[in-house]
Amino acid sequence: MTAFTPQIQSVLEHYELRMLEEQFRMQQLSPEEGMAKRDDFLLPVGKAGAEFIHSMILAANAQKVLEIGTSYGYSTLWLADAVTHTNGKVTTIEINVEKSNYAEHQMQKAQLSDYIDFVCSDVLQYLTTDHQPYDLVFIDVWKELYVPSIKLLIDQLPVGAYIIADNIIHPSHHKEDAEAYREYIHSTQQFESVLLPIGSGLEVSRKIK
Ligand SMILES: C[S@@+](CC[C@H](N)C(=O)[O-])C[C@H]1O[C@@H](n2cnc3c(N)ncnc32)[C@H](O)[C@@H]1O
Repeated sequence: MTAFTPQIQSVLEHYELRMLEEQFRMQQLSPEEGMAKRDDFLLPVGKAGAEFIHSMILAANAQKVLEIGTSYGYSTLWLADAVTHTNGKVTTIEINVEKSNYAEHQMQKAQLSDYIDFVCSDVLQYLTTDHQPYDLVFIDVWKELYVPSIKLLIDQLPVGAYIIADNIIHPSHHKEDAEAYREYIHSTQQFESVLLPIGSGLEVSRKIK
């Protein structure tokens, strides 16, 4: 169990309450309505996935962490807390300005702003100019962007870097994109990669060459 500062704990409780309310609201929507309103929701990685990624950052002593898909900042909170222990920094990318601003405001309340660079941009555009050697990448953007994002990133990742990809098992309507992502990662022969049934299914890949 992670020991958070009171400021982080308070922001986490705010997200958890919102998650509960949204779970109920989402159950009332058809898949089509849910898709149309997806920008209203946190769409969070969830507690089990967040705790696992937090542990991975600590275990790998990851300092340069990239998040693709900030949304409203739930996962960013966990990543940023983790890098306070590794003396690192999180770069987090989100295309939607309202979500990015909301996340930034919550991270100020959690007193984590010094550990985060917020990038409000299209990930594919951003990655054509960003060449940082990230130690750990958490990818949780719209699923059709997983393969193009990793294709842009792959050469700049050092041997030993991790990529953790969410939603590889659930929800099932992402199955095609999730399979395409796994196929791509395995086909490069540059990663050891395993699918873990944690949260919505995390593909954890370690660069070996
Ligand atoms: C599943 S949500 C991320 C959830 C977040 N990681 C969490 O666990 O709290 C995916 C996010 O990717 C963002 N996104 C979609 N297309 C994008 C793009 N081209 N560039 C950057 N972000 C994008 C969406 O606006 C959405 O907020």
